[in-house]
This record gives sequence, structure tokens and C-alpha cells, in this order.
Amino acid sequence: PARPRVLSGIQPTADSFHLGNYLGAVRHWVALQDSHDAFYCVVDLHAITAGHDPAVLHQRTRRAAAQLLAVGIDPERSTLFVQSQVPEHPQLAWILGCITGFGEAGRMTQFKDKSQKQGSDRASVGLFTYPILQAADILLYQADAVPVGEDQRQHLELSRDLAQRFNTTFGATFTVPAAHIVKDTAKITDLQEPRAKMSKSSSAPGGIIDLLEDPARSAKKIRSAVTDTGREIVFDAEAKPGIANLLTIYSALSGRGIDDLVGAYAGKGYGDLKKDLAEVVAEFVRPIQARTQGYLDDPAQLDKLLATGAEKARAVAGATLRTAYERVGF
Ligand code: ADP
Ligand code: NA
Repeated sequence: PARPRVLSGIQPTADSFHLGNYLGAVRHWVALQDSHDAFYCVVDLHAITAGHDPAVLHQRTRRAAAQLLAVGIDPERSTLFVQSQVPEHPQLAWILGCITGFGEAGRMTQFKDKSQKQGSDRASVGLFTYPILQAADILLYQADAVPVGEDQRQHLELSRDLAQRFNTTFGATFTVPAAHIVKDTAKITDLQEPRAKMSKSSSAPGGIIDLLEDPARSAKKIRSAVTDTGREIVFDAEAKPGIANLLTIYSALSGRGIDDLVGAYAGKGYGDLKKDLAEVVAEFVRPIQARTQGYLDDPAQLDKLLATGAEKARAVAGATLRTAYERVGF
């Protein structure tokens, strides 16, 4: 039987993925390749919804692709592509937009949050219709499963509603995608505010560890990570969120269980834990950084890889769009 299909995307809105992106999302993408027919895209169309610099976007798109390859997305087994190279995405988004209620779109809490931050007059229509484009991203590939974090749950629900509505109105066309919940998804928190999530949009520079930053810089941030006034190394996300976060990162990057780590650090201090974690991070990122640089140093090869990915993606997306066009009456 064919493997179930999975689709996920990441925005090229930073120069580097941070540890939260990697441990909370991308790491699982790599693992899913073993069990799924995976489609992964760098969603540059989504990245222009809140203002951008063209040259920076261009660079970040390439860097995102290079990092995905560097952490183990295998273009032989999976389809890795850049969203803007597959024009079927905005084409289908238009059709889906025409079966989405204005009020329905207006209930998306991420738009409310983001537009509030920007001032509602400055928020773009693209930011408003973002979840509809996201539905197109998913439905074009007839994805069975979409890995989602808590923040994307409502958007996936909209994708499911639109798939069902289209199928009911115009005839069976789209697979209704299910949420793929990863059980032990690590939620990585801000090193400076250990109750808030590590985030490129809200973390201060000291709170976030980038995959591509100098490990010496990461070590410094880990040394100054906010902990608590106690001295015991135990895993307690409520009472000791700082230590819990350091243990979570340590465990995820080293493959050692939390209990194993807690046992190993019995009687030792926070300083010991931080020093060792800095080494674990350094060892982990070094090869990823080298491989990323390798891809960036050979732009022709990277372009070729992405062109092949886009071609594979278009073969699937084009077939779905043709069916949708016919059903709609075009
Ligand atoms: P950011 O919050 O830094 O803007 P994105 O929203 O671009 O990051 O997230 C990209 C992916 O990484 C999403 O799947 C998201 O759920 C995941 N992710 C982001 N931050 C974290 C975090 N601190 N812990 C776990 N997963 C995260
Ligand atoms: Na975000």
C-alpha cells in the first residue's frame, strides 16, 4: 500500500532556524520520511504577508532550504520545494477563498493577534487570507496528515472544513487532512523568560538559540539562562521552568532520557549542567552548520535541487488543480 502523504511548510522569515523550530517541528519532518510520502515546502508566499525586504527574503528562502537539507530532509525520498515556484498554490487559494465566509476567516485567532500587533489598518489582506493559502498548500497534495503545533490547530480545522465543503458542493476532489500529533513534541522556551516560548518574533536575543549561530555565542546564552534560586537539578516545568527547558534541550539533542540526565546530575550544580549542555549544542550544530554552508556555497546545485523539487510538486499539484477547475466549471 502507498505510504500516507504528509505535508508541512516553514516560513523563510529568519536567517536561521532556532532550536524551537528544529526540536518542535523540523526534527519530526526528518523522522516522518521513514513512514510517509513527505512534501515539505519553504512557504515564501506566506512570508510576504507582513512586509519584507526582497533581497533578504531571497537569501532566507535559500538558507531555509539549505538548512532543511542539512538536518536530513532527503530530496531523493521526499519532495522539497519552494512555494512560489508552484503557481498552483495561489490558483487554488483563489477558489478556496470563494467558498470561505468572510466571518469564518475573521475568526482566525492568529490573524487577530498579528493584526492587533501591527495595527488593524496596516495589516494586509494577505495576512487575512493566509489560512486560505495554507489550505491550498495542503489540499493540492491530497495530504493525509499535517504535523501541527497548538498554534496551527485552528488553521488546519479550516483546511478540513474547506475540503469537505468543496467536496460536498462540487464533488469529491480533496483528501480531508488529519492533524498529525507528535507525542513527545518538545516545547522549547525562552532562555531569558523560561515560561514563554522561544520565538523569533518575541524572544530577546539572549533568549533564543539559532542553529546557525557560533556555538560560543550559544554557550554564553546558556550560561546566562534564567533558572531559579534552588540548586537541585530536577525536571519540574511548573516550579523550575528554566531547568526543565535546559533538560528538554539536552535530552532532545543528546538522545538521553530526562530521567537518565536527572540521575547523572544528582549532586551537581546548575553550572555543570549549563557547561555540558553548551558542549552538546556545539557538537550538534557543527555538522549542520558545515552542511548548510556547503549547500549555500554551491548555489547552482541548490537551485537545481529546488527546481527538481518544484517539478515533482507541480506534477501532483497540477493534477489536483485541473480536477478542481473542472469541478468548478472552468
Ligand atoms: P516563531 O514562533 O519563532 O515565529 P514559527 O512560527 O515560524 O516560529 O514556527 C515554525 C515551526 O516551529 C512551527 O511548526 C512551530 O510550531 C515550531 N516552533 C516554533 N517555536 C517553537 C518552540 N519554542 N518550541 C517548539 N516548537 C516551536
Ligand atoms: Na510564530
